[in-house]
Amino acid sequence: MSADGTLDGERLVQKILSRESTVGIVGMGYVGLPLALALVDQHFDVLGFDIDRAKVTELMAGRSYISHISSERVERAVGGGRFEVTDDFTRLSDPDAILICVPTPLTSQREPELKYVVATARQLGAVLRSGQLVVLESTTYPGTTDEVLGPILEEESGLVCGRDFLLAFSPEREDPGNPDFHTATIPKVVGGVDEASGEVAAALYGQVVERVVRVSSARTAEAVKLTENIFRAVNIALVNELKIVFDPMEIDVWEVLDAASSKPFGFMKFSPGPGWGGHCIPIDPFYLTWKAREHGVQTRFIELAGEVNVLMPSYVIGKLQLALNARKKPVNGSRVLVLGVAYKRDVDDARESPAFVLMDRLVRLGAKVRYHDPHVPVLPRTRRWAHLEQTESIDLTPEHVGSFDAVLLVTDHGDVDYEMLAEHAQLLVDTRGVYRAPRANVVKA
Ligand SMILES: NC(=O)c1ccc[n+]([C@@H]2O[C@H](COP(=O)([O-])OP(=O)(O)OC[C@H]3O[C@@H](n4cnc5c(N)ncnc54)[C@H](O)[C@@H]3O)[C@@H](O)[C@H]2O)c1
Repeated sequence: MSADGTLDGERLVQKILSRESTVGIVGMGYVGLPLALALVDQHFDVLGFDIDRAKVTELMAGRSYISHISSERVERAVGGGRFEVTDDFTRLSDPDAILICVPTPLTSQREPELKYVVATARQLGAVLRSGQLVVLESTTYPGTTDEVLGPILEEESGLVCGRDFLLAFSPEREDPGNPDFHTATIPKVVGGVDEASGEVAAALYGQVVERVVRVSSARTAEAVKLTENIFRAVNIALVNELKIVFDPMEIDVWEVLDAASSKPFGFMKFSPGPGWGGHCIPIDPFYLTWKAREHGVQTRFIELAGEVNVLMPSYVIGKLQLALNARKKPVNGSRVLVLGVAYKRDVDDARESPAFVLMDRLVRLGAKVRYHDPHVPVLPRTRRWAHLEQTESIDLTPEHVGSFDAVLLVTDHGDVDYEMLAEHAQLLVDTRGVYRAPRANVVKA
């Protein structure tokens, strides 16, 4: 704060640059934890907040609960005295900057579920002090930062946004398991609700990431993130549809896409699969759909992409049924091994994975289903899929593989012996294009 009590953005920037500032991060999940460690790497003191006491305890003991983040990194950060995690939310008044990385899922009616953002806003508003910078990182619809977060903070604290505290949005672009990019090397988009907020937020992120991309407003930054994920959702739907279209023409869509991607301009390769999965692509586009309704406009591409992607598991099950039928076997009573339940390769995250939909369909059809996933040793229990009885990944031995009527390849993890699998599987249904050359026991789906 300046001498006259008004917010001094320049002073806050100086505190950030000189590392006098502590950074608070709310939500120690897949986004918040790597961000915290990236800040620690740049010599910031970081105070993490989470409502999940088990995570707080694990992290404070120097243990990571996310497979692609090493415990050694967490231990070094905690042991070095730069990183602390707490569930005491009164301490939110300590840091000069607070980054919010809480979940933004959909409700059961497929509408934005902002209850975690709202809860955080209330906890923070209760202790907010003059001179703090607040940045929302959770993916959300345009307007959330200035229409939802800002007013709650003002109401709870009695402070005024822009005069007493700064507020910005900066979307997270973390790509878990991607060896080519990590927090520091992924450019960060930043937009403030006003000029000073954008400037100070950009100064903070500039200390951690190689490139900051300033945009004119928080709502523009919110729209950037949704645009990126809608682009993915639509293109995934397109190649999934092409998979279905080319199949009866006896054209292998993966061969087509490989060849098409030799074009050095104007084409970007997406890979077909068993549907869509993860906590972003099947969810984020519908945040825009919801907001668009408020303005009386429609999001037809998003709806169509949703339709195509949601129908993919039915297509896969149909192909599996036909292949079993050709071997004079009904699905009912057949033993099916699902290979991979994580939503994408080489991660341990099974949220919104199409594997659950596929297993559910198979169980309902009377199949005996087991799974193998090197990254998911125990099937996460969710209320929706509580009836999926098998809870543990089985070993992928030649004997096990050969004992199933069919293996359904859902996730193409890197550390699987695909040659062994093809040699011993009676029938292998490949939804990821792992097997390019034709094999008698492999069916692409
Ligand atoms: N995981 C990704 O790859 C990714 C990528 C880009 C954007 N995002 C977005 O980032 C946000 C966070 O995603 P995530 O994957 O890290 O979620 P996550 O579920 O892994 O982590 C969120 C954490 O927030 C905690 N939490 C919930 N409510 C809280 C509260 N009121 N106070 C403190 N902590 C609270 C939870 O206990 C959890 O540990 C979401 O909006 C998501 O869409 C995620």
